This record gives sequence, structure tokens and C-alpha cells, in this order.
Amino acid sequence: MDHFSYQTGILHAEDVSLADVAEAVGTPCYVYSSATLRRHARVFAEALSVLPSVHIAFAVKANPNLAVLRLLASEGYGADVVSAGEMDRALKAGVAPEHVVFSGVGKTADELTRALQAGIGQFNLESEEEGVELAEIAAALGLTASAALRVNPDVDAGTHAKISTGMAENKFGVAYDRAAGIYGRLSALPGLKMRGLAVHIGSQLSRLEPLEDAFTKMGELMRAIRAQGDTITHMDLGGGVGVPYKPGDSFPSPQQYGAMVARVTADWGVTLMFEPGRIIAGNSGVLITRVVRVKEGVNAPFVVVDAAMNDLARPALYGAWHDFLAVKPDGGTFTANIVGPICESSDTFAMGRQIDTVKAGDLAVFRTAGAYGATMANTYNSRALVPEVMVEGDKWAIVAKRIDPATILAAEDVPAWLK
Ligand code: LLP
Repeated sequence: MDHFSYQTGILHAEDVSLADVAEAVGTPCYVYSSATLRRHARVFAEALSVLPSVHIAFAVKANPNLAVLRLLASEGYGADVVSAGEMDRALKAGVAPEHVVFSGVGKTADELTRALQAGIGQFNLESEEEGVELAEIAAALGLTASAALRVNPDVDAGTHAKISTGMAENKFGVAYDRAAGIYGRLSALPGLKMRGLAVHIGSQLSRLEPLEDAFTKMGELMRAIRAQGDTITHMDLGGGVGVPYKPGDSFPSPQQYGAMVARVTADWGVTLMFEPGRIIAGNSGVLITRVVRVKEGVNAPFVVVDAAMNDLARPALYGAWHDFLAVKPDGGTFTANIVGPICESSDTFAMGRQIDTVKAGDLAVFRTAGAYGATMANTYNSRALVPEVMVEGDKWAIVAKRIDPATILAAEDVPAWLK
């Protein structure tokens, strides 16, 4: 459910015409619906309210926009961050430091130090080496770091290989059968307070079974670690529940997820932590684009739009589907290839797809672009960094300005020997 709908023939975000936004801000441009974000935040939290003690940290990587983080903080969400940059955003957005979880496979000593000094709530350790380093830094600062050990449960998430993280050969976490030993050794270190385990097997999961298998294995490991005399008070179950991108896609509901977690964790006696990203932000955003021109193709015409793989990378990276809708549809449809202007064939949004009829100058949107959209944008082909807009009712505001190629060029220089 989202708050993008046609009013008098024009696609609106809540009560704001996307044609008006495009006129004022230019294209391409991301637009987020506050009502949709809030609704998803509440539905997810409500689905987990069947659990005794819960902490939800939004996966900032999914949408790190300051206004988005602010809105989610106002809904009581903490933040799951994977860099000092994300941590700074979360804190600036008003997330309390103790509600920040620091994940990530390559935290540097500088990042660990800064996070300790900021008083963040939990470090999710990806290796024994990282734990030892964190303990040393914390002890030297006279601080104690609360930490969880990320475990690789060796479960196939059944999602795209590039966003699968829980199989033995993936770089994430420590091996399942080594985890209890590592946990015991890290628990003995001064400067470190080991309080739990963390798991995240992948993103855009369409079935609950792999999650249930992973959580069940984590429960067994938790019991083994307690049996060896170590303490576990927190279990971080990560994110990963997918969202439909294509008409007809079917995904588990937050309620089904909550019920599964309740069943598997009934006797765990811990605070359960979650790191949802896509399920909160995915369908709260669209990318508005303008058709530059329609050119003839061999099998179908090419609709060349002014958005490209640098603005929305998911189709190029994962072959992902994003629905394409005209902002002012005329009722007709045709079969077309949708492509961006970038000079490689991966800059393709869709091939041979049945879409609303569009012509040069028309506005359209790619849907379900609120997660892993703007956050993955770059400036390839010396294009601008795409702007972002947030809507609330009939109000809207630019929440990230377009960064023009000239600004990026201004950061570059020619060395003296070439001048
Ligand atoms: N926690 C950890 C440790 C993660 O690595 C991730 C996502 C999440 C939570 C949030 O997962 P979610 O609930 O959003 O599935 N760029 C890709 C997605 C990469 C996900 C990376 N990790 C895409 O566009 O599909």
C-alpha cells in the first residue's frame, strides 16, 4: 500500500502533482511520500509488537536521506549503520546514539573510535580480529563497547546472488561452527561487553523459510553459548524481507514475518533487534523522469529517458524490475524498451515491456524506488547527482539538492606538471 495515485489524470504523491514537482525541480528526481514511509514503519512495528522486547533499527543504506531518517526517528526507529558517514547522518537526524547499531564488514580503527566516542549502542562484529581491535580501542579510551557477533549461518536466502549474504562462502560474519569459541574468547576481553549474536542472510527475500532456518540455527547457537557460561541478552535478526516490484509478485506480510519470529524465538528470553530497510522505504519513493525521445528499434521502439543507471542502478546491477508509469497517461499502451542515455548497454531499465504510451517530453516514473535508489546514485558520464523531494499531504520540499556536474568538476584539479 502506498500513497501514489492518479488524481484528475495526473500521478500524485499524496496531494502533490508529480508534474508540478518535475516542473519546479527538473528531472530526474526522486520523490518520497511521508505517509507511505510512516505507514510502513508503523505496520512493521505493529507486526513485531507480538514480541516481548524489540529494537528496530532502520538500515540506513536503504535510504540515508536526512529527512527520511528524521521521519523514521520520530516513529521510534533506531539506525543500523555501516560507515561513519551513515552514523553521522543518523545522529544528525536525531537518532539517539544508544539506538544506533554499527554493522559492516570493514569498520576501520578510526570508525570504531568515533563510534565509541559517540556512544553508539551496539557493534555488530564481523570477525574475531575486529572484536580484539575494538576491545583494545575501547579499553584505551576507558570505555566498554557493547557488541554482538555476526554469524554466517550458511543458509541460502534464495535471492539474487549479489545480495545474498548468509552462505558459507560469503564474506559476512564468522563461520557458524567457530562462533561459540570466538564468542567465549571475546567475552573475556576487557573493553568489550559481548551481549548477543547477529544474523542477516540477504535482501529482497520472497520466502520466510530461509529466515526461519537461519533463526532456528541461531537459537541453537545461542543455547550452546549460554551452556558454555557466556551471556546473551540480545539477538539481532537483521533485515531482508522483500517487497513486490512487479504486478503479481507475492511476498510475506510483516504480520507473517512477526508470527514466524514469535514462534521461533518464544523461549529465547532476549531483546530482539531488527534491521529492516527495503520493507520500510521501498515503495515510498518514485523516480520521476522525462522522455528525451522515442527512437526506432529492431524489435520495439527505444524510449530514451533522462534518468539513467547512475540515478537508479538496480536494473543494471541486478536485472531488477521497476514499474514504469506515465505521469499523465492517455489510456494507450505499447511495447517498448526503456533505456537511459549512458553509453553502455547495461543502462537499460526494461526490454520489450508493455507500458503506458509515451512520447518525447512526457513525464513518467519508475516505481518502488525509495530503497536502494538515490543512495546508490553516482555521477557516471559526468551527470548530476540526482535530487530528492519529500511530500507530506499537499506540502513538498527538496530534501537533497541536485549536485551539478560543475560542482563536482570544481573539486578536481590538474597537477602543476600538467598546467
Ligand atoms: N542489515 C544488514 C547487515 C544488511 O547488510 C542489510 C542490507 C540490511 C540490514 C537491510 O536489508 P533489507 O531489509 O533492506 O533487505 N543494493 C541492493 C540491496 C543490498 C542490501 C545490502 N544489505 C538492492 O538494490 O537490492
